[in-house]
Amino acid sequence: MKALVYHGPKKVSVDTVPDAKLEKLTDVVIKLTTTNICGSDLHMYEGRTDVEKGKILGHENLGEVVEVGKAVDIVKKGDKVVLPFNIGCGFCANCERGLTGYCLTCADPSVMPGMAGAAYGFAGMGPYSGGQAQFLRVPYADFNCLRLPEDADEKERDYVMLSDIFPTGWHATRLANLKPGESILIYGAGPVGLMAAMSARIQGASQVFVVDGQADRLELAEQIGATTINTKDGDIGDQIRELTNGLGADCGSECIGYQCHNAKGKEVPNLVMNSLVDSVKATGSIGVIGVFVPKDPGAEDKLAKKGQIAFDFGKFWFKGQKMGTGQCNVKAYNRRLCDLIHHDRADPSRIISHELPLEDAPNAYKHFDNRDAGWTKVILHPNA
Ligand SMILES: NC(=O)c1ccc[n+]([C@@H]2O[C@H](COP(=O)([O-])OP(=O)(O)OC[C@H]3O[C@@H](n4cnc5c(N)ncnc54)[C@H](O)[C@@H]3O)[C@@H](O)[C@H]2O)c1
Ligand SMILES: [Zn+2]
Ligand SMILES: [Zn+2]
Repeated sequence: MKALVYHGPKKVSVDTVPDAKLEKLTDVVIKLTTTNICGSDLHMYEGRTDVEKGKILGHENLGEVVEVGKAVDIVKKGDKVVLPFNIGCGFCANCERGLTGYCLTCADPSVMPGMAGAAYGFAGMGPYSGGQAQFLRVPYADFNCLRLPEDADEKERDYVMLSDIFPTGWHATRLANLKPGESILIYGAGPVGLMAAMSARIQGASQVFVVDGQADRLELAEQIGATTINTKDGDIGDQIRELTNGLGADCGSECIGYQCHNAKGKEVPNLVMNSLVDSVKATGSIGVIGVFVPKDPGAEDKLAKKGQIAFDFGKFWFKGQKMGTGQCNVKAYNRRLCDLIHHDRADPSRIISHELPLEDAPNAYKHFDNRDAGWTKVILHPNA
């Protein structure tokens, strides 16, 4: 089969590799019809993780079931399914509580002591291949496959966002403990930040502020109904207080991660976290879903090399704020968010900028990584 393979920093190519196949009785194999490139792939693409060479990338996967393991009960050949980017077992102590991003059965404990969680085509998340390929092996298929309704083909571009960014954007607002009528400050107008803005609108936020330095992405945020703030226009905290009677936003979400940068493009790892502490009101909550890593040898910043940031903990404590972090437990949300799409209450496909065959993936990585204007969200059709 053809697959997008990582060969080293900024080196990916579409290669011929062995076909994905059933490995356990509880697996299925799917034929990918749509798979996306994600901001999370870029951390790997840039060589800023320890992902191994030869890894097939791709964790935002949708396709048709073509092979079914003998112990799979519900999922059938021909089903159109979307897969959470996390791989869960469904029966471990974390999956049992809905924390499927922290599955103990599927995790690779050699990554670090106490590590939990697994994903397709991801650094430090187990040996699983990604879905930027023609076929993909899906472990614990009955648990991981979300079977799509009858409009699966018609709304495929929306449903594929259930694999990651729509639930992740939603999770960003839940970690921030957003309540109807409250204001929320969302940092980052990438695909995840835009999905957080859409989620906040659906949940009845009174004001949704989105901060970024890229005009084209801010324009999309505005179309979603957010008030946009350009990082080039001065101190964020002052602007937010001006818009919220001097108090600050009721809550905030970090949708950028450890590679956040200042207006000149220089990475400043603590910039956004400290700005959120400043801009969110006293007692407010902050949801951090942008990825931070336990070590980042490629960072210029001395602390960041060790996975640390200089965090304004005193101000955070003094303001009595709370914080939630980590991978989105996609299964906690995907079935309900699917219903929102099915009943025309959400249209996450609106942020798609490019729809391409798999062969074009290396070029798409380059443009998306450069944050070239207009390259907001790339979706690929590996079997078109
Ligand atoms: N926790 C999870 O489950 C989960 C899931 C998916 C993605 N992620 C992570 O979410 C983050 C965002 O993903 P994405 O696909 O939207 O990525 P992206 O890289 O396309 O978007 C990030 C955006 O942040 C902006 N930005 C950078 N520095 C900034 C600053 N100082 N102030 C304001 N804006 C700034 C960039 O211009 C860009 O538009 C990534 O770290 C990704 O790995 C986490
Ligand atoms: Zn993703
Ligand atoms: Zn589990």
